[in-house]
Amino acid sequence: MRDKDLTIAVLGCGRHGYACHLRDAWLTPGRQLGKAIICGLLKQSDVSINSIEAAVNSDTSKVDLSKQLREGVRVSKGGNVKAANAADVVILACPPRAMTSILGEQGMDAALKGKPLVSVLAGVTTSAMEDVLKGGGDAPFCIFRALPNLAIATCASATAVEAPKSSIPREMVDVIDKLFRSLGGITYVPASNMNAATVMCGSTPAYVALFLDGMVDGAVAAGVPRDKARSMVAQMLSSTAALLQSHSPSELRESVCAMPGCTIQGNLVLEEGCIRGTSARAVKTAIDAASKLG
Ligand SMILES: NC(=O)c1ccc[n+]([C@@H]2O[C@H](COP(=O)([O-])OP(=O)(O)OC[C@H]3O[C@@H](n4cnc5c(N)ncnc54)[C@H](OP(=O)(O)O)[C@@H]3O)[C@@H](O)[C@H]2O)c1
Repeated sequence: MRDKDLTIAVLGCGRHGYACHLRDAWLTPGRQLGKAIICGLLKQSDVSINSIEAAVNSDTSKVDLSKQLREGVRVSKGGNVKAANAADVVILACPPRAMTSILGEQGMDAALKGKPLVSVLAGVTTSAMEDVLKGGGDAPFCIFRALPNLAIATCASATAVEAPKSSIPREMVDVIDKLFRSLGGITYVPASNMNAATVMCGSTPAYVALFLDGMVDGAVAAGVPRDKARSMVAQMLSSTAALLQSHSPSELRESVCAMPGCTIQGNLVLEEGCIRGTSARAVKTAIDAASKLG
């Protein structure tokens, strides 16, 4: 398969009641990973996309998404198999509990044979999906697992990708690699690390946001207008991310705290609050919880 003029189906991209501005590619609060994926697909420019099939489960979501329709995106309710049949690449973005009913729909196995199925479901293994998909002809199933985060809407996701099985054709692996690279950075991990990756890519933006929220409050308490504090914190996060490309977190902390100035004073207060142990425990607890999601 080639990365030319792909038709992509996203199964599970509703979330009724919320507005999603596909052209502007940002989302109102809510989870809606499927919609975020569509926003990113429309924004990226590395892969040529012919059309997008968006499958939802409710009338409200269909009406909602259709309002934001732009040329090349077709929304259907109850049309998972039709969307999968029309697609070159199928992305499964429903809640984990809906996997069995969607992949078990009559005709879904035939629709998916020989084409890439990329699941973004937390806690659902490739073998659990293979168990549901049976029959459908001779071609093999080519199941990928990717765990992005909501920044996929702006092509800035941190996406963990499970190392693909060696039975999947190289050409297909390359297309999926290019597609997800066009939506942000990707890290390949073994299947045994996918629950950890769910947390490291999907959940940790919420933890970082909690920490930053406290920093904004601290600045406001010292007299900084809230909008200025937010703007500085967001820019600081981008520059920290840039520095982390070439430094480990502990190297970065040590070099910024090198002199006996204000930074080390603040660092000592954070250490009194056990920030390192608390964040390590939070991540470990979330990984344990992720293993029970499927
Ligand atoms: N949110 C994140 O940051 C994140 C990160 C990594 C992975 N994930 C995974 O991504 C998946 C989606 O997450 P989410 O937070 O967007 O979930 P969600 O809001 O609970 O579900 C997504 C959509 O799936 C649709 N759906 C449910 N059953 C369906 C069916 N039978 N056919 C077609 N569509 C169906 C629903 O559409 P209606 O609105 O029409 O009912 C719903 O809007 C989950 O499996 C989650 O584990 C999420």
